[in-house]
Amino acid sequence: MYKFDLLSSEYKQTPFPTWQMMREAGPVIRAKIPLVGKVWMFTSYEAASNMLRDHETFVRNPAKAGRKYVAGFLAVMPRRVRVLANDNMMTHDGEKHRRLRSLVDQAFQLQSVEAMREQLTALSNGLLDKIEKRLRSGETVDLLEEFARPLPLYVISELLGLPKTDRESFHGWGNRLSNVNSITGILRVFPGLWKIRNYLCKQIENCRNEPREGLLSTLVHLEQDGDRLNNDELLAMAFLLLVAGHETTVHLITTSLVTLFQHQEQFEKLRANWDLANSAVEEVMRYVSPAEIAKPRMLSCDKIIHEQSLHRGEYAVAMLGAANHDPAMFENPDVFNIERSPSPHLGFGTGIHVCQGMKLANAETGIALKTLFDRFPNLQLKIPADKIEWSRRIGFRSITRLPVKLG
Ligand code: HEM
Repeated sequence: MYKFDLLSSEYKQTPFPTWQMMREAGPVIRAKIPLVGKVWMFTSYEAASNMLRDHETFVRNPAKAGRKYVAGFLAVMPRRVRVLANDNMMTHDGEKHRRLRSLVDQAFQLQSVEAMREQLTALSNGLLDKIEKRLRSGETVDLLEEFARPLPLYVISELLGLPKTDRESFHGWGNRLSNVNSITGILRVFPGLWKIRNYLCKQIENCRNEPREGLLSTLVHLEQDGDRLNNDELLAMAFLLLVAGHETTVHLITTSLVTLFQHQEQFEKLRANWDLANSAVEEVMRYVSPAEIAKPRMLSCDKIIHEQSLHRGEYAVAMLGAANHDPAMFENPDVFNIERSPSPHLGFGTGIHVCQGMKLANAETGIALKTLFDRFPNLQLKIPADKIEWSRRIGFRSITRLPVKLG
């Protein structure tokens, strides 16, 4: 049984050596990880991507694997809160998954990412207006709290069509969700989850009574082949989009900034040609892998893979970070190269659960970087990039603050 310290600050700061150790230990290894426990770890690109695409063997629905709950902190919550995570597309496979996902696909099509570009630029500029004066007068500003965290929240709440006046309150509730590594962490998030649940229930009811712009109202009123989402499904869907669309994008924006500051030559290349923004963000997705571990799957049957005997009900995780640095797939994988092409990284997952918001996340991050450096071309980190503190959170690569000043 392998035990990797996936929460240590050394690992969080420089995970590449551990990812290499994992791959060298084997493409499929038995290991123990926090919150989930014993798992089969899929460490190589080939093993991880095959596993994520094998939806028959590796399932998200615990019932198919003879289990009651999927591992994770929501499993220990009371039912009225657990419903937030119980009935969404991430917790289903097969037909039920297809149905839930296609309803969102349909609603997403009504609001294309391309059409949102102007809106994204305006939201980004609005936040920069707030910090401009302080930066120009020489103050240090924490870009994590004042730019990278609010931006995706504003974007996803606008996409969902939630009232602008409510943003600040669920900003507070949501913040507490970002540090769940222990039982005390779980207890801390409970009041926030409860408030989010009540808030979303109210919004769903309001949309039902009075249709409005945005994804939530579209989902409430959407009919596809006579099919509609029930209340629990709507709640779980809104929560999934809110959480999935917020937290990870915060990490992508901040880690893009740190990585670019750490690689000045690549940074200059991007600033000379913003057409590279799309591939630069994709390279951060590969190089940093903000979601470093995919959600745990369970085995629906016994199976031998890479000479290992896996059994029904056991957990399996795809190590996205380790796979994204597999030299068998990527040339010089530990080199940050914004022009890497092609780059079939697994940062957004793959298979039926591949991220539904990947285009939005990419556009949002590219626009955030461009508006930031157009306005403040001589923006600098206040502390050296290698002194930036990385959060000790399982499964995500994120930082705790991002102090900047004008040079
Ligand atoms: C940098 C930002 C993002 C990252 C790194 C990210 C990463 C991921 C990953 C790795 C998965 C697959 C999980 C798995 O298979 O275990 C996923 C799924 C998903 N993501 Fe994202 N995501 C991001 C942004 C977004 C945004 C902005 C949205 C929505 C607006 C979103 C919505 C979803 C949804 C709905 C799923 C579940 C899809 C399904 O089960 O079929 N994500 N994401």
